[in-house]
Amino acid sequence: MCGIIGYTGKGNAAKIMLDALELLEYRGYDSAGIALLGGNGMRILKSAGRVGDLRKRCKGQDTGGHCGIGHTRWATHGGVCDQNAHPHRFGRVTLIHNGIIENYKELTEKYHLAGKLRSQTDTEVAAAVVDHFYTGDPYSAIRRTVLKLKGTFAFAVLFDDQPDKIFAVRNVSPIVAAITPDGAILSSDVAAIVPFTPDYFVLPEFHVAALSPAGIELFDLSGDREEIVWQKADWDVGQSGKGGYPFYMEKEIMEQPKAVQETILPRIRDGRPDFSEEGIPDRVLAECKRICVIACGTAMHAGLVGKSLIQAMIGIHVDVVMASEFMYNDPVVDGETLVIAISQSGETIDTLEALKFARACGSPSISIVNVRGASIARVSEYVIYTNAGPEIAVASTKAYTTQLAVLYLLTARMAAARGLWSEKTLEGFMQELKRVPDVLKQVLQTKEEIHRLAGAILHARDVFMIGRGLDYSILLEGSLKLKEVSYIHSEAYASGELKHGTIALITEDTPVIAVVTQEKLKSKELSNIREVQSRGARVLLLIKEGEALEEGEGLSCVYRLPRMEDPFMVMPASVVLQLIAYYVSSDKGLDVDKPRNLAKVVTVE
Ligand code: AGP
Repeated sequence: MCGIIGYTGKGNAAKIMLDALELLEYRGYDSAGIALLGGNGMRILKSAGRVGDLRKRCKGQDTGGHCGIGHTRWATHGGVCDQNAHPHRFGRVTLIHNGIIENYKELTEKYHLAGKLRSQTDTEVAAAVVDHFYTGDPYSAIRRTVLKLKGTFAFAVLFDDQPDKIFAVRNVSPIVAAITPDGAILSSDVAAIVPFTPDYFVLPEFHVAALSPAGIELFDLSGDREEIVWQKADWDVGQSGKGGYPFYMEKEIMEQPKAVQETILPRIRDGRPDFSEEGIPDRVLAECKRICVIACGTAMHAGLVGKSLIQAMIGIHVDVVMASEFMYNDPVVDGETLVIAISQSGETIDTLEALKFARACGSPSISIVNVRGASIARVSEYVIYTNAGPEIAVASTKAYTTQLAVLYLLTARMAAARGLWSEKTLEGFMQELKRVPDVLKQVLQTKEEIHRLAGAILHARDVFMIGRGLDYSILLEGSLKLKEVSYIHSEAYASGELKHGTIALITEDTPVIAVVTQEKLKSKELSNIREVQSRGARVLLLIKEGEALEEGEGLSCVYRLPRMEDPFMVMPASVVLQLIAYYVSSDKGLDVDKPRNLAKVVTVE
């Protein structure tokens, strides 16, 4: 969490950083700030609030200069206020930080900092420690500081007497850097770099990058120079804008047919699923005895769909574990457990740490990641990239459906590798998968109808969502989406579980969204719907086109989903749930893309 930027060169550093901070704002948006180092010494401008507030704060101030660092914050230590905004300055050192310094209290004591700090942040303590060790050699000060720190960090540091230079170091939290046509830039992620150049590198952990207008040098912690390993970003700048939509979330929902198509098509050869580009040997898919999916939030919900598919079609046991709980539940993974890590950003620290643990236990691993070169992709044995393009809205949409697309492909490849399906079954499955983009387009063409349906829950305080099997899995995601962007309390329940307690909350007019897409569960699901209706619930039903509903099933609203084979119905149904959440949020006048308290990339545990 937190976005960091640094620029040194011939350009106007303040302008470059403010523009970049807007692109990075999805990483945190409690406060923002910049520091400029130039002829007039160090100038720091920062304020609680959004980058827009910082821009206002900069108006009329001296913002000239060609070297600076900037930050957009997601608060961890210390509340949201001007003093706690980054950059932090102590003595001759000014720095920005993404991560958490766990031993900041011990360091405060050890270096007698009590009474000298102006903020409540762990970051200011780190600035003070760097200053303590600084005797004119930035590398030595950084090295000695890093050896004292416990926790995660990505720092960009300015020293008063090192004009035009930015120093960066990291552990776990990401930093990427690049040469621009007129200088050098660093950032938390490539989003802020692609407007300048597609060529960038990931700063290796515990290495120091020194940026100057002449370029970038890389050193290990003992001061030895190292070669930079360059990569190419494949996101073009055009993909990063809102494309005429009022919010990124709507744009990203609308992009799903293309995103899913681009995720599926390159992995189909002669009609069969193919992971030869990714170098995944069939033995990895054929020999594992069980699968453990680790992920958080939306990515974890994608894993739940994968579990249902794989258990039903391959017949092997799949666990889906919240990555944040994985380490604390004495995980049992071994060489026979295929670990699948799912993450849009590829930087979620809980998923990353869980994956590292599993690898240390000898588990083969595949990660499903959207951001090229992200930490999870690098740690994993094999990586399958979802080709969703940049996902900027905090609420994940196209990342989810592309993760599902990869899970369908994996299921099919696993079945083929194990010789479980006939050619005809495989062909039928792949044909249906290829239909998904068109079916999603069909749903998106009905977005105004979905907008009207969303009106039914606009003023609700609580919304319940019910379904069974695969329907339940996608409702967990639908409910998360509604909560995070509309702030309406919502719970997804396996419909059969309602009677064991929660049905007590259903009263006259309680809105209930029910999804019924699985033939084998239909009659049970419809009975559960009747149960809530007879307690007064107002039901919005998502059901396949052409499914008969009996008179008296008295449903207030019904949305007809385009027909697919049952295992694929989660795709169109998920998009409807995303649109419902989106319209409720936008009709409430909320900041859809940046819901309160959240950040897009969760790099703290
Ligand atoms: C959902 O809309 C959220 N953005 C969140 O749950 C997200 O899916 C989760 O934080 C995991 O992120 P990742 O995919 O980048 O690992």
